[in-house]
Amino acid sequence: MISQDSIQQILSRIDIVEIVGSFVKLKKRGANYLGLCPFHNEKTPSFTVSPSKEIYKCFGCGRSGNSISFLMEAEKYSYVEALRWLAAKYNVEIEESETSAEYKQQQQVADSLYIINNFSQKYFTDALFNSEEGQDIALSYLKERGFREDIIKKFQLGYNSEAKDGFTKAALAAQYNLDYLQKTGLVNVRDGNAYDNYRGRIIFPIHNQSGKVMGFGARIIKKNDKAPKYINSPENEIYVKSKILYGSYFARQAIDRADECLLVEGYTDVISLHQAGIENVVASGGTSLTPDQLRLIKKYTSNLTIIYDGDSAGIKAALRGLDLALEESLNVKLVLIPDGKDPDSYVNKTGAPKFIEFVKENKKDFILFQLDIALKDAGNDSTKKAIVVNQVAETISKINKAEDFTRQQDYIKQCSEILKIEESGLHALVNKFIREKINKDANRSIRDEKFSGTDNTTTITNENIDSDVNNLLNKDELYEQAMIRSLLEFGLKPWNETQKVADHIFQEIEINQLEEMIDNKELLRVLQVYKTWYDAGIEPTEKNFFYYEDQQLSSLVVSIMDFNYEISPNWKEHYDGHIATRDELYAEEVFSTLNYLKLRKIKKLMDTNQHDLEKATSPEEQMVLVQTHQHLKQIEIELTRQLGTVIFR
Ligand code: CTP
Ligand code: MN
Repeated sequence: MISQDSIQQILSRIDIVEIVGSFVKLKKRGANYLGLCPFHNEKTPSFTVSPSKEIYKCFGCGRSGNSISFLMEAEKYSYVEALRWLAAKYNVEIEESETSAEYKQQQQVADSLYIINNFSQKYFTDALFNSEEGQDIALSYLKERGFREDIIKKFQLGYNSEAKDGFTKAALAAQYNLDYLQKTGLVNVRDGNAYDNYRGRIIFPIHNQSGKVMGFGARIIKKNDKAPKYINSPENEIYVKSKILYGSYFARQAIDRADECLLVEGYTDVISLHQAGIENVVASGGTSLTPDQLRLIKKYTSNLTIIYDGDSAGIKAALRGLDLALEESLNVKLVLIPDGKDPDSYVNKTGAPKFIEFVKENKKDFILFQLDIALKDAGNDSTKKAIVVNQVAETISKINKAEDFTRQQDYIKQCSEILKIEESGLHALVNKFIREKINKDANRSIRDEKFSGTDNTTTITNENIDSDVNNLLNKDELYEQAMIRSLLEFGLKPWNETQKVADHIFQEIEINQLEEMIDNKELLRVLQVYKTWYDAGIEPTEKNFFYYEDQQLSSLVVSIMDFNYEISPNWKEHYDGHIATRDELYAEEVFSTLNYLKLRKIKKLMDTNQHDLEKATSPEEQMVLVQTHQHLKQIEIELTRQLGTVIFR
């Protein structure tokens, strides 16, 4: 762990304009800076950076955050990596607190593994080109398949001899540690004897973004039903399967230029396409794409074209998980190659120009393709067809970014035509899924249906969902947010002679047991974290949350803080002279947010009381309950009256 002290030092030097500015061209606009959003495609700038608040927000796609979350998103760094990047930028010497021993250890192992891989790659390449066995068995095999020598060298292919332990002996003689050799998967130990794991195989090194070898794929040469065709490196400190895209090191620039990434299944597909001059290509290894891989692709381009063998079992795997691609705003197309050919064999047969033309003419939209397959599967079975409708609606609902709105509408139109159902019906269904997702994301407890007035199990009709999809955060939640916002913004201001606003809020919450009135558990957590800090003598502001390690809380706080508080235009119409700013009215705001929560509590109590009243049997019991009702009603009236006299946004 990086010590708190170092973090503090880094944070004190952060200049968000400078940091974001090294990735995005920013222009000054008033108090803020404006630029083209790096997270979505746009022509007019809506990406705003506020130096005073140290946050950014895109008014196009809605993304917002602080310097750290920017680096995490733009560069795909982890929290700690982002801190290290900043430390390097601002020349802060990072002090590691104790737990870092573990981190250091891990770094050390990683370094050792890279060194071993580097040695191994050279050893295998040497064996391929310079040993007799390598030339006779492996190089001739590769050449027979049509791989040119320059391409074999570029991808640093190699060969591991059939002999039992040639590589192992060489590595041990060069003083490499046996434990680490095992970690790389290159060496196995059985009955105390160490021997080569990839015997008689062509070696495909797998490179990371900077060209270092993370691991290997090893393909058998001689046909053998007992041995697997490929063996890949085991997971270790540097080889993390879910993050690997084979070929990305060689493809990056070409992807940039083409603004498109081609995805194929295997090592040989990548290499053959390169050889044919098609370089914007990476391989998944035949499994379904992981979120990490999709994010990596999205870093380079928004256009993903999957090119698979039409008969391959891999297609289903590839399609699985692709809904995630939609959430990442990737444009996914699919090309299937006929007659059991994979891109490698196909490009070898047709040559590059025909291959490119074929891809261009056979690109199918991924959603429509999926729908096509599912409909064929369903046949005339109406239950199955209903499931298909649901699935396609769910898929379309994943396209849910502002900039993709027209795309989503297009899909609804096209799919409803294919399905022969009403467009508005599909529309409603899509909205249902969007709503469910938002509810889930907000981590809301299932509400008392009586209170919320919505019923999760409603069947879908056209009107009941359609209307308020964009305004799903209901009023209650907005009030909860307002209350947290006033705490963050005004907590340290004076409430009265002896108390600060935070003291007052916590006192009110305790007396009235308001915690149970905050439905959104994440917002409640903000409140609790604030209190822990406050009780410990720290004076928290929203900034403490912006740089809080828990990114979920951090981004929640960013999203509820007003980016630029502006007085609503209709106030201006009603008042001539001085308009009080929110800052001047803070006491009233605190007062009303608390009152609102109290009001909800009263309503809830009244509801329970009413319930009891309906069940009450004796007149005495009824009497007490009626009195309680009247008492609660009185409080409600008073609270409402107070709220009415306070201007509350
Ligand atoms: N693969 C794997 N393990 C296996 C089989 C396949 O990891 N046992 C991965 C490899 O990344 C391989 C890809 O899936 O490249 C595609 O498999 P396949 O089509 O069988 O191999 P090709 O790459 O086409 O290899 P070749 O052309 O040499 O048959
Ligand atoms: Mn193949």
